[in-house]
Amino acid sequence: MARFKNRVAVVTGAASGIGEAAARLFAAEGGNVVVADVNSARGAQVAEEIGGVFIHTDVTREEAMEALVAASLERYGRIDCMVNNAGMVGAVGSILDTPASYWRATQAVLFDSVFYGIKHAGRAMREQKSGVILSVSSIAGVMGGLGPHAYTAAKHGVVGLTRSAASELSRHGIRVNAVAPGTTVTPLIEEVRGGREQALAGAASVSPLGTALLPEEIAAAMLFLASDAAAHITGHTLLVDSGVTGAGAASGSSVLKGQSMRFVGASHGEG
Ligand code: NAI
Repeated sequence: MARFKNRVAVVTGAASGIGEAAARLFAAEGGNVVVADVNSARGAQVAEEIGGVFIHTDVTREEAMEALVAASLERYGRIDCMVNNAGMVGAVGSILDTPASYWRATQAVLFDSVFYGIKHAGRAMREQKSGVILSVSSIAGVMGGLGPHAYTAAKHGVVGLTRSAASELSRHGIRVNAVAPGTTVTPLIEEVRGGREQALAGAASVSPLGTALLPEEIAAAMLFLASDAAAHITGHTLLVDSGVTGAGAASGSSVLKGQSMRFVGASHGEG
């Protein structure tokens, strides 16, 4: 089955993790993929393996994002799906101690980049009168306390900008959506956790489903949102979080596990 046949995707941060999984899936489903990243060695390797092209891109620079869109159009003639995915953790620690320079650098990678991607891919898609823009938020984009402050603010920003841009761009046939992953086992999380085994175990332990979330599962959600099956979905942030935000404070706790069936209260209306 080729669910992205002859379509063109541009994926930022595609040298690793979620972006790499998305690039591989879009290519496997028949698409042409532009791999954009600051990591030239790894990005070029991924592009070669999937028969795509690599374009060195620093997503924090508007001129680089504009050039990425222009080069993609020159190579493939159109952009059907722009994936604003590149990221890192950024400033970690108390809000009371956060240097403004750490704050700005975090917003530049995680939020300014999404604005540039929507703006420049959106201009190309306006000409085409079609296109899908997907940005990567996070469970930290819909709740507090699940990530560092600057990261949480940026990821909430992605959700808001997705809604706002969708409300304008629908008139041009452009859909704008986001995905909000839970803890996903990628090199980013492996670095934070101190290794792949620890990352797999940690991700499984916080998942109400009991298994670790993998980048391929985020990519699958992206493919759905990019497809015609999602033709009337826009302005939406799709949580792919194993149920973590739904369970809220109970996620991973004993509240959900091992409880026998009983009624707690004065009356249950029976007998
Ligand atoms: P990763 O570290 O495996 O991959 C991130 C990629 O982005 C790398 O290839 C890196 O070189 C690239 N990148 C970083 N800064 C860049 C820049 N200025 N310009 C161009 N490329 C740049 O990370 P992962 O986990 O795949 O993260 C991808 C996205 O998913 C990020 O936006 C992250 O915040 C988000 N996310 C990740 C979660 C996780 O648990 N792994 C959970 C929720 C969201």
